[in-house]
Amino acid sequence: MLAQRGYRVIAVSGRPEHETYLRELGAAEVLTPDGLGLGSRPLEAVRFGGVIDNVGGPLLAGLIRHVALWGNVAAIGNAAAPAFDATVYPFILRGVSLLGASSANCQMDSRTKIWNRLGTDLKPPTLDRIVSRTVGLADVLSACGTLMNRTALGRVLVDCR
Ligand SMILES: NC(=O)c1ccc[n+]([C@@H]2O[C@H](COP(=O)([O-])OP(=O)(O)OC[C@H]3O[C@@H](n4cnc5c(N)ncnc54)[C@H](OP(=O)(O)O)[C@@H]3O)[C@@H](O)[C@H]2O)c1
Repeated sequence: MLAQRGYRVIAVSGRPEHETYLRELGAAEVLTPDGLGLGSRPLEAVRFGGVIDNVGGPLLAGLIRHVALWGNVAAIGNAAAPAFDATVYPFILRGVSLLGASSANCQMDSRTKIWNRLGTDLKPPTLDRIVSRTVGLADVLSACGTLMNRTALGRVLVDCR
């Protein structure tokens, strides 16, 4: 979605074997968290215009230090850890904003607008590659197991019929 809007996307994955897959989805570069080489000072050299993070913890803290002036950081999840160690410097010296996301509480009018865009101008051109498999309700638990043991690839579509 970001690549087709002209952004240069760096995908971060702890599983380097997925590099080809992530490049096919639009990543210009694929790095591991360690490969990012993030610094530990309160402010580090600017490397990212913005961040979408579903991991939390030290990775989120490290990324914030490298975000450009007025950049946005969307905190979406806590796959690694809920807490992170940060200073206010990126916020008060670079105008960086940390944005929350709470999809479960999204109002229906906003959902409808977003879903409409996700089906039109924001539609990922590689949606068929992102949905890696479809399961029925009876197989949701085992599909969740692959998320928990970190062997899942892409999204699992649940067919509720
Ligand atoms: N804010 C909201 O509205 C909202 C909505 C839905 C989900 N969430 C949250 O977003 C997070 C991600 O959900 P998701 O559905 O995208 O899950 P997911 O498909 O399992 O993706 C999470 C990714 O995080 C990485 N990861 C997992 N455990 C990790 C660890 N211990 N350390 C570092 N990286 C780790 C893995 O990437 P690699 O294996 O490639 O490294 C994994 O693919 C969850 O915390 C979920 O609760 C939030």
